Amino acid sequence: MGSLRKMPSEESYALIEGDFKNFRVKRITDKDIPKVLENIELYFIPGEITCSNLGLTDQSVREFLDVAKISIQDGLGFYMEDKETGELACVRLTHRMRKGVDQFESLDIQSKSMFAVFEIFDKLNKIGKIYERYGIDEYAEFFLVSTTPKYRNQGASKELYRRSLDFLRAEGFKVAKVFLSSPWTVAGTKSLGFEELGSLSYETVRWSESGELIFPDPEKVKGVNLYLKVFVFN
Ligand SMILES: CC(C)(COP(=O)(O)OP(=O)(O)OC[C@H]1O[C@@H](n2cnc3c(N)ncnc32)[C@H](O)[C@@H]1OP(=O)(O)O)[C@@H](O)C(=O)NCCC(=O)NCCS
Repeated sequence: MGSLRKMPSEESYALIEGDFKNFRVKRITDKDIPKVLENIELYFIPGEITCSNLGLTDQSVREFLDVAKISIQDGLGFYMEDKETGELACVRLTHRMRKGVDQFESLDIQSKSMFAVFEIFDKLNKIGKIYERYGIDEYAEFFLVSTTPKYRNQGASKELYRRSLDFLRAEGFKVAKVFLSSPWTVAGTKSLGFEELGSLSYETVRWSESGELIFPDPEKVKGVNLYLKVFVFN
């Protein structure tokens, strides 16, 4: 972990770590990174709508995992493990966004799919104008949530959202943001009190430069939207 990074306090970690049903919630440390990345590669990337529709190659998967590795460095990521077996049940990655700082700058992105992900995020960030809207210099970004299939529908992802909000509040964040495409997570965040700032349609979203459609087969993403939502702490 980079020594210049601002790391969360133990008091804040105490708000999120601990038991939930048959699971144990833990912060992601360096030794956990391989199993966390493995879970994301196996269960998030193939299951999540944006990734699965962009036509993933080995290279784009590698690049996605490189983004995940950078996200983890902020110390805001967590996982749940099965208390009996130690198996990884759910991963929640969150990172700190700072005005004028591109923490992903060091990445040498080459794949079209990852360019597309960044282009789509950029378009929605321009709609959201979060720094200006709330007069802030930083906010927390919920980057991804991945539940191992056999542990789905037991409230794991929702509980990690809930606890993460308490943790981020304690860390002094004023706003948390999330991009959502999955119908389930849209439902889950609505009941947690997130509000929508904007959305874009995958059927019509185009590359800024060429004007071509980003999703090559609009039929496959019919009715799919990406939403920008925020949770404002008070
Ligand atoms: C989306 C995902 C993280 C949900 O994880 P989970 O641990 O099963 O979710 P939870 O049990 O906490 O449920 C959260 C909410 O979604 C709803 N939900 C979960 N699975 C659902 C399903 N298959 N159909 C409809 N609703 C569903 C729950 O009812 C709950 O809503 P509520 O708060 O209104 O009751 C999981 O399916 C997954 O990893 N999918 C692949 C990756 C992905 O798409 N990630 C999300 C994009 S960042």
